[in-house]
Amino acid sequence: MRVPGLRVKLMDYDIEFRPSGKKVKVRAGLPVLDAARRAGVPIPTRCGGKMGCLMCKVEAQGEDGKKLSAPKEAELRKLGSLANQGIRLACQAKVEGSVTVTVPEDRLKAAIRKQLEAAKNCDNDDTLW
Ligand code: FES
Repeated sequence: MRVPGLRVKLMDYDIEFRPSGKKVKVRAGLPVLDAARRAGVPIPTRCGGKMGCLMCKVEAQGEDGKKLSAPKEAELRKLGSLANQGIRLACQAKVEGSVTVTVPEDRLKAAIRKQLEAAKNCDNDDTLW
């Protein structure tokens, strides 16, 4: 219901994404996924925010977790035990305070990085002999 003359001021909050360190100011209630897009932080999705792909997992530990909307039953069901580890679906978690969110490294990139590090370590071993 709209009351003439009554203005509701929505709060703005800062959201910081790690590990990139990118920050953006957003209105309360904006999903983390939308905030990430505004900040230019890529979070993979396939379902467009319909809780179908589970690719948009982010991490908000401790006090940061309390600055996001409480997970609803459906999100808790989808996340299972991950919900107890501070993992949230970026498409479902809404900003309710200034918060820092960690975007996990893409699995493919992580695998490639590990292979490169292992190869680099092998090269270093060769130089010793
Ligand atoms: S975008 Fe698919 S579950 Fe969040």
